[in-house]
Formats: sequence, structure tokens, C-alpha cells
Amino acid sequence: VGDEDAAHVVSLIRSIPGFPKEGIIFRDFMPVLADARGLDILIRALEAALPVPADRFDLVAGLEARGFLFGPALAARLGKGFVAVRKAGKLPPQTVGESYTLEYGQATIEIETDAVAPGQRVLVVDDLIATGGTAKAAADLIEKCGGEVAGFSFVMELEGLQGTALLSDYPLSTLVTMP
Ligand code: PRP
Ligand code: ADE
Repeated sequence: VGDEDAAHVVSLIRSIPGFPKEGIIFRDFMPVLADARGLDILIRALEAALPVPADRFDLVAGLEARGFLFGPALAARLGKGFVAVRKAGKLPPQTVGESYTLEYGQATIEIETDAVAPGQRVLVVDDLIATGGTAKAAADLIEKCGGEVAGFSFVMELEGLQGTALLSDYPLSTLVTMP
């Protein structure tokens, strides 16, 4: 992915001040997905920037909802399966859950207990890391199932929230750093 392609993706990220709460600048990557060139660059860039080589993980896990929008495309490109980490109450039993705090609230996420088999290695993907609360909760869930977190891939990282510090035990890559 060249500089021109990277600049094209960055130009498509929309920033909305005051959403969903005062004081938050919401970073919206939906316009990247809506743009054929942007989407193609995004998937290729994620593949090129994997935090560990693809032979070091078995599955890609995406975090609801925005990790569902590109996780399966990346997984298919890499020849891996995809696992959905969902907000609480959406999956049938048996599930395991974790509660956490994020930049603008609190939430609980869940996965099906058998979605990750003991010893399976998982790459976790999401659009954005802010406080890191969501991503850390996902790692805890995968580990509760006996799985191993191989690393994290994010499209965007928000500076100043120390989100990546919470994940310092894991390989991690981000495509774009935003204030
Ligand atoms: C957003 C984003 C990440 C999370 C990051 O999701 O897509 O999952 O917040 O914040 P954190 O690093 O502080 O935990 P959100 O919970 O808004 O849900 P959505 O994807 O369903 O819109
Ligand atoms: N998730 C947490 N903080 C966010 C932000 N500022 N923009 C978009 N998604 C987010």
C-alpha cells in the first residue's frame, strides 16, 4: 500500500464532534467502506500490516459492530474462519461474557463458549481502539475459552487514551493514528 493509497483512506475518514456525547470526536470509517477503492485499499493494508504472520493464527475474531464490517473479508483473504464477539444478549447459550468501560459508556460482550477451541490462536480485529476496554475484554473472553490471542489489528488508534498500553502483552498493529 503506497502513500497515495494511504492518503486516500485517511481522506475518507469522517470526524463528527459531539457524537455520541459532548467532548467526543467520533471517528467514522463508514465512508471508507462505501468507496470501492477505499475498501480494497483497507483490506490490503490490514493484510500488509498484520501484527504477526498469518501462519501464527487460526481464526479472526471481529468485535460488534464495526469489526464485523471488514473482519470476514480479511479472514477470507487470509484463508481463516471468522468468529463474532457480540454485545450481551444476542447469542444463544452457552456463552461467556466480560463487562468493560469504553470511551463513552459501559458494555458487556460475549462469545459462544465453543467458538474458540482450546489452543486455537486468534487475531482480534476492530475499527478503532480508544481506551482499549473493548479489545481487552475480548482478549479476556478468548482466553477464558482456552484460546490464545495472537494479536490485534485496528484501522484507527486514538492518541492520548493509552488504549494500546492496556494491550501491551500482545502484538498490535494500527493503520492510522488520530488525535
Ligand atoms: C466502538 C469501536 C470499538 C470501541 C472502542 O464500538 O468500534 O469497538 O468503541 O472503544 P474502547 O477502546 O474505548 O473500548 P461501540 O462500542 O461504539 O460499538 P459499535 O461498533 O457497535 O458501534
Ligand atoms: N469508539 C470509542 N471512541 C470512539 C470515537 N471517538 N470514535 C469512534 N468510535 C469510538
